[in-house]
Amino acid sequence: MSKDSNHVRLTHLTTSSGCAAKVSPGLLHDVLARLPIEHSERLLVGIKTGDDAAVYQVSDELALIATVDFFTPIVDEPRLFGQIAATNALSDVYAMGGVPLLALNVVAFPVCSLGTEILGEILAGGADKVKESGAVLAGGHSVEDKEPKYGLCVIGSIHPKKVITNAGARPGDILVLTKPLGTGIVVAAMKADMATEDARRSAVRWMTRLNYKASQACVGCGVHAMTDVTGFGLLGHLKGMLVASGVSARIAAARVPAHPGVKELASIGLVPAGTYANRSYVADWVEFAPSVTAVDQDVLLDPQSSGGLLISVDPERARDLVRKLEEGGDLGSVIGVIEEGAPGRIYVE
Ligand code: CO
Ligand code: CO
Ligand code: CO
Repeated sequence: MSKDSNHVRLTHLTTSSGCAAKVSPGLLHDVLARLPIEHSERLLVGIKTGDDAAVYQVSDELALIATVDFFTPIVDEPRLFGQIAATNALSDVYAMGGVPLLALNVVAFPVCSLGTEILGEILAGGADKVKESGAVLAGGHSVEDKEPKYGLCVIGSIHPKKVITNAGARPGDILVLTKPLGTGIVVAAMKADMATEDARRSAVRWMTRLNYKASQACVGCGVHAMTDVTGFGLLGHLKGMLVASGVSARIAAARVPAHPGVKELASIGLVPAGTYANRSYVADWVEFAPSVTAVDQDVLLDPQSSGGLLISVDPERARDLVRKLEEGGDLGSVIGVIEEGAPGRIYVE
């Protein structure tokens, strides 16, 4: 038996969608803290700094970047879901400043009940984005599962001295964001058939945009630290960067870009469950000024699928970076500054 894509709503086969389905950061931290971690001189970036990918030095000239990322359907169109999941997985290589070399499919799918046609479309979507990135699709692994899941394991390369981690942000740095926020809210609204066409179009356009050009814009631009904004939301990922770097930050909520209509959707309660997990994860770190509304907070905590890069750049080079980002077609939104202070502390005004 096989069902065609017109009769199956992929997002209705899951309990939570996309990066909003991520394990809560607090729980993850507890589990990882109990893992025995082997030390290796060649491991330039490992588990400790909460970075996007591992970086392993092969020679004086070459380090490999390794990452895996997969999630449940975020949209009903199988090919589009594949494109978004692959864009998201490739992003962790870009977030380290690297270039993807090869990718492996990671697949869980109810082949027994749904057949292979939809799965084929999902994989074709993933292949679209791997091709666009210039990497090679080299295989994968699949299991039968009631809830579909798809993503990639990606291997990339970088010069060992050019790795951009979470840990290099310095007081005075400018914080720049390259995509609008709110995909979690839009996806929740799409699932409830309440998303406006504008919101949907914007979210889909940005979720399928590789962070390739944004990452390239950072080369030679005095970037001190970088991460991509995904399931833990802007504030969750910023907190990770600040803790790893030993600094604080000040964010201007009004300068943070969001997809059209996101605030209206959030104000009627279309907020994914991941937002609440993210809120409690950063509760001890973030202080909101009274002027920052509950809806603004929901956007800053919204779990992103295939979000943009969050960049901490030298203040003297920020203008250059913003210009290069915008020329490449990304946003170059200046959203705040790095300050001296308690590591991880965020003040939102
Ligand atoms: Co990441
Ligand atoms: Co990731
Ligand atoms: Co296998």
